[in-house]
Formats: sequence, structure tokens, C-alpha cells
Amino acid sequence: MERLARIARKLSDASVKRYNNPYAEFQWPQDLPMDQWHFAPELISLYGLEEYAALNEPQQKQLAFWEAVNFFGINIHGEKALIGGLAEHLYYMNWSPELSEYLHHFLDEENKHMTVFGTFCHRYGKKVYADKKMALPRDYAKGEADFLFFAKVVIFEELVDHYNMAMGKDERLHPLVQHINQYHHNDEARHLAFGRELSKSLFEQWAPTWNEQTLAGVQAYLSNYIVSTWREYYNPAVYADAGFDNSYALYQKAWSAPACRAHREAVSANCINYFLEHGMMTERPAL
Ligand SMILES: [Fe+2]
Ligand SMILES: [Fe+2]
Repeated sequence: MERLARIARKLSDASVKRYNNPYAEFQWPQDLPMDQWHFAPELISLYGLEEYAALNEPQQKQLAFWEAVNFFGINIHGEKALIGGLAEHLYYMNWSPELSEYLHHFLDEENKHMTVFGTFCHRYGKKVYADKKMALPRDYAKGEADFLFFAKVVIFEELVDHYNMAMGKDERLHPLVQHINQYHHNDEARHLAFGRELSKSLFEQWAPTWNEQTLAGVQAYLSNYIVSTWREYYNPAVYADAGFDNSYALYQKAWSAPACRAHREAVSANCINYFLEHGMMTERPAL
């Protein structure tokens, strides 16, 4: 925990230095030009399918716009859950003061991100796609819920950050979309450093006290979580908004297409390797 306190202190200093005001950071044009890209074509969930290749460029750009609204919505819902969990861990048990100090920044930054994503979705998409994740109440072993919460944060943020990094510097995209992705990545780099360290530390502290059944449950839970997180990147409502009339069949086809599975595996590799390396996962989830 001492190492963790040191890291938290450094990250707090960095957050103070990079403290930002999203209301000053972004100018929001009245409308977005639909002849530009708002999502990288290769990251579109249908990329690699014949249905995508059959679209003309204006149709691909239309789909890209709705994929952006979906991606920003995934962020909103993930951050909403994140904020709740971060708040619960402020001044938590015997955790060091440095952790609470950093959690204040973490929470503040996530709240700001949500306002940016929410503004984009409401202003240009006139909607935020619904949250599909469900969490059923269950019992936890000591330390298990804390570990799972921060491990989920790492999974959620690793996937998002892959997209942010790719699109933050993608000159093909509308400058506002590039800016949002870059802005998010700048804060997420710190969140990921913290989340990786904290989940590892919680696992090292608590896993030796868990029985075999709890350990197997943790593995299954994380595998299910990564799969259900990926599911959100494939949204039938997006395909309907982009003009497809077979949106649910398309969703199922995209989910099981080898090209799309290969994409999910490539994007998740770093994150899964980290969990495997530190024993937090015992096998690669079937994506
Ligand atoms: Fe965020
Ligand atoms: Fe974050």
C-alpha cells in the first residue's frame, strides 16, 4: 500500500497541474457537418462485414456518426457507475489519505467527462442510447467487491482508451471529435495507472484469504464483464438509426463475425495480459 500511496500522490500532483475546465475547453458548433467522419472507419463495429463494404461513403459516415453517439454513451454509462463506486471508496476503511485525495480527482475528472460526452450526445444525436448492463445483487467474500469494482474500472477504461488514443490524433475526423477523444485520453492515462496498481494491490491483499470457489467466481465474473462490455459496442439501435432495417440480425452477425472477434481480441490483449500476468485472471476470456 505504500507504493500505491506514492503513486496516488504523484497522480494527484499531475491532476492539479492539468486541472481543466470543460466549459472553457470546448466550443460546440450548432450543427455537425455530416460529410465528415465522426468515428474512425476501422473502429466501426460493422467494419469487415460485407454490409459495411456495401455502403457508399455518405452512408458510412452516417453510420460513423451514430457509432460516435454510441461510444460516448458507453462512456457516460460506465462513468456513471464509476462515480458511484469512487464516492463509496472516499475515506474508506483504513485506506491511506493519499488514496482519498486521488479519488477526489478521479471523481471530478469523470464527472467532467460525462458533461462533455452528454453535451455531444444531446446536442447532435438528440439522445443517449440506453444502458444495457445489469447487475444482480449477490454476496461477496471480504475484499472481493472492492477488487472487482477496480478491476472492472480497468477493463472499461482500457477498452475506451484504445479508441480514444486512435481517434485523438486521427486527422480524418472532425476536429471536435478528435479533441474530445484526446481530452479524455489525457485524463484516462492517469486513471489507468491508478486502477491497474490498486486492483493488483487489492488482489494481492485479499486473494490469499479467498477459497477456490471465490477465486473461480472472480475469474468468471471478470470474463463475463469484459464480454458484456464489448457487447455494448455493437448496438442494434445504432444500425437502425443509420438506416439498416435488419438491425438485430446485423448485430448478431457482427458479434459472431471472425473479423470482429479478432478486433476485440487485439484491443483487449494488453488489458487481459496484465490480469493474467498478475494472476487476477487464470485464462483468456472467450471474446
Ligand atoms: Fe472518463
Ligand atoms: Fe477515467
